[in-house]
Amino acid sequence: MEAWAPFAEGKHNLFENETIMTIADKYGKSTGQVILRWLLQRGITVIPKSVHPQRMAENINVFDFELSADDMKTMASLDKGESQFFDHRDPVTIEQIFGSSLQQVKDSEI
Ligand SMILES: NC(=O)c1ccc[n+]([C@@H]2O[C@H](COP(=O)([O-])OP(=O)(O)OC[C@H]3O[C@@H](n4cnc5c(N)ncnc54)[C@H](OP(=O)(O)O)[C@@H]3O)[C@@H](O)[C@H]2O)c1
Repeated sequence: MEAWAPFAEGKHNLFENETIMTIADKYGKSTGQVILRWLLQRGITVIPKSVHPQRMAENINVFDFELSADDMKTMASLDKGESQFFDHRDPVTIEQIFGSSLQQVKDSEI
């Protein structure tokens, strides 16, 4: 499993989420670092993107702490049950992203 947008592309004020901020304070870490730990501790590869060197350094500095089982549960409780940047199961979205590739497949089937 690989998180292509571990920070939901920075949408929905994720970095200001109060629940995550509370957890982050406990460990002396940032919200971004807690999000990455939550993914990594579940065996998910993360590829966070930043154009800021300081944030890049912050995002890689996540291997010196571990979220407790309770904090992992709290993080999991934030799940909304749907993608926070786009729905891979929505035909309209898929058509927009992969439209030309889908057309090529359709053409090759004729
Ligand atoms: N999203 C997709 O569908 C998709 C598909 C294929 C590949 N990828 C790749 O996956 C990687 C993930 O990038 P992504 O842009 O999709 O989503 P992302 O990593 O979830 O979010 C990036 C956003 O988080 C901000 N950010 C990063 N670190 C931060 C920090 N420590 N504190 C505060 N804000 C922070 C970035 O702002 P700043 O840059 O201003 O720091 C940017 O707005 C990229 O390499 C991308 O090419 C993504």
